[in-house]
Amino acid sequence: MTSGQITRRLLPTVAALSTPTVAVFVVLLAAGEVAFWPAVIGTAATALLTALLLRPYVADLAQVARYARDLIRGGEAAAPRLRTDIGSDMLAALGQFRRAWRSHSEDMATLLAFHETLFDNLPEPLLLLNGQRRIVRANAAARKIFGRQQQGRDLAAVLRNPDVLEAVDQVLAGEPGSTVEFNLPGPVECDLRAMIEPLPQAGVDGTVAVLSLHDVTALKRMEQMRADFVANASHELRTPLAAILGFVETLRGPARDDSEARERFLAIMYDQATRMSRLVGDLLTLSRIELQEHTRPEGRADVSTVLRRVATGLEMQAEQRNMRIDLNLPESLPLVAGQEDELAQVFQNLIDNALKYGREGTSVEISGGVTPEPSAGGGECPARAVCIAVRDHGEGIAREHLPRLTERFFRVDTARSRRLGGTGLGLAIVKHVLNRHRGLLTIDSTLGEGSVFTVCLPTIEG
Ligand SMILES: Nc1ncnc2c1ncn2[C@@H]1O[C@H](COP(=O)(O)OP(=O)(O)O)[C@@H](O)[C@H]1O
Ligand SMILES: [Mg+2]
Repeated sequence: MTSGQITRRLLPTVAALSTPTVAVFVVLLAAGEVAFWPAVIGTAATALLTALLLRPYVADLAQVARYARDLIRGGEAAAPRLRTDIGSDMLAALGQFRRAWRSHSEDMATLLAFHETLFDNLPEPLLLLNGQRRIVRANAAARKIFGRQQQGRDLAAVLRNPDVLEAVDQVLAGEPGSTVEFNLPGPVECDLRAMIEPLPQAGVDGTVAVLSLHDVTALKRMEQMRADFVANASHELRTPLAAILGFVETLRGPARDDSEARERFLAIMYDQATRMSRLVGDLLTLSRIELQEHTRPEGRADVSTVLRRVATGLEMQAEQRNMRIDLNLPESLPLVAGQEDELAQVFQNLIDNALKYGREGTSVEISGGVTPEPSAGGGECPARAVCIAVRDHGEGIAREHLPRLTERFFRVDTARSRRLGGTGLGLAIVKHVLNRHRGLLTIDSTLGEGSVFTVCLPTIEG
């Protein structure tokens, strides 16, 4: 500040401070106690003295003000040299304020960076919206779904679902937050749950609402699978039950005295009841295995012994179709970590299928080995594993059915499976037992030639 500016600042204060002295001189002049010129000189001298005394304070104050303005502008000016104590005190206080502000700003920057990282790394897509429904920001997950250049665009240009847009508009109009479920078509179709929440206060960037999206595809699929499972199980049970009830009615009524029909109907009823019992047995097995699926089995199992036992048990069934079970196993196989009775169920189901779906008069070949030796029949087992291949010579399975084969109640030909006494649960049981044993099932099939089901089980020593 120039000296002229300082003087201009001083004038009103000096005038104010000199007023009492002027008043005293005026009174004295009126009373004739003092002559005119001495009064004028006295007044001027007082004003000059006041100005001289005040000048350094006003100059310091002006310096402090300029320095503060410089700091606000973000400048790094050196602290001014001041002449008065009060000026130095103010400067010291300003310094303290500046340090406190700086540390506060650093804290804020750290906090902001933390929130930015958190916002960006949240696995769920998040969009921040302003009052005009434009996207203020999108986190990494949202950018992955909607593309990079979404900032500033209307939400409608990005997410064309009318229900979501309506819910967002309502929130922007002051309504409370809401949730909408919708399907997002695209190369990978998914089900999303959108949650729209208003912010209690608008953000500095204009954000007034947060739209978060949750992928509920897996959840929906699970719900659907559970519903399908209950529907399938009930249907499977109802069919034989309806047959039994029908025959009971007939035996009580029209066929009451027909002993030949009674024998025939009782045989059918017995078959249907057996089928129901098999189904309930498989359902119980499946639910028991599913419950244990996440605990590793205790015990060691000798796969050769298990296979021999199962094969012996199925010999009669093979003979009925004029088939043979050829066991081609090495002298000894390493032990695997597992429970023999559960593994017996695996091979029982696979060999039973091979006997049911293999052509009459052919053989079912069972070979085994240890991976990574080539004789083991393939598989993608990561560790050292015992691999058993069950090969049949049947009609084979079309490629498109292979991925669904281990689903509960999935059958390529339902009527045929039922006719052969199948429940549609055998391969589901196989899959769950193998999951628990950290094993692997691979299916290879050629239409018209037959199928190979290969089971790999990690050995105890890995
Ligand atoms: N070795 C096989 N050859 C041909 N198809 C098979 C074979 N094993 C299983 N499948 C098909 O997979 C379906 C499911 O098998 P599974 O779960 O054991 O049920 P189920 O034998 O009771 O029908 C069978 O219905 C059949 O269509
Ligand atoms: Mg089966």
